[in-house]
Amino acid sequence: MTASILFVCLGNICRSPTAEAVFQSRLKAVGLANQIQVDSAGTGDWHVGAAPDTRAQAAGLARGYDLSHLRARQVSQEDFFQHRWIIAMDQNNLRDLIQLAPAVHTAQLNLLLDYSSLSLVDKNVPDPYYGKIADFDRMLDLIEDACQGLLVHIHREII
Ligand code: 4NP
Repeated sequence: MTASILFVCLGNICRSPTAEAVFQSRLKAVGLANQIQVDSAGTGDWHVGAAPDTRAQAAGLARGYDLSHLRARQVSQEDFFQHRWIIAMDQNNLRDLIQLAPAVHTAQLNLLLDYSSLSLVDKNVPDPYYGKIADFDRMLDLIEDACQGLLVHIHREII
């Protein structure tokens, strides 16, 4: 059976599409791309149908991640049944997901930075939308590191 993971942020144009591309790349690198599907969505609907923010695309491409084919969509009720893991970029996203979730569902909801190797007090991937280019690089640093820990966690759960 193919397991599935969904990354969630607010707009689905900066953080979660970046996490989707990074995690997909990690899966390919370890030969698990056929076993785990990756997707992303936003809790908000402002950018539905839009490509990732051009700054997120540029920051990703500089590290070898192509985000250009991704399009924003909003989290749906089906997501809570279709995905085994739903991974929120920050605590607001997680709170919103918990409120949106059907009373009975099958997804495990977690924060991405729970899988970080860094000693972080703040478990939020900061929203870079109103920030500078350096904020997009910091976002990538946090996402790349935590995706490694998340991969180890998921690998343990599927074997
Ligand atoms: P994201 O960033 O949640 O990482 O995609 C944002 C993008 C757009 C907005 C907020 C956050 N916005 O308010 O339009």
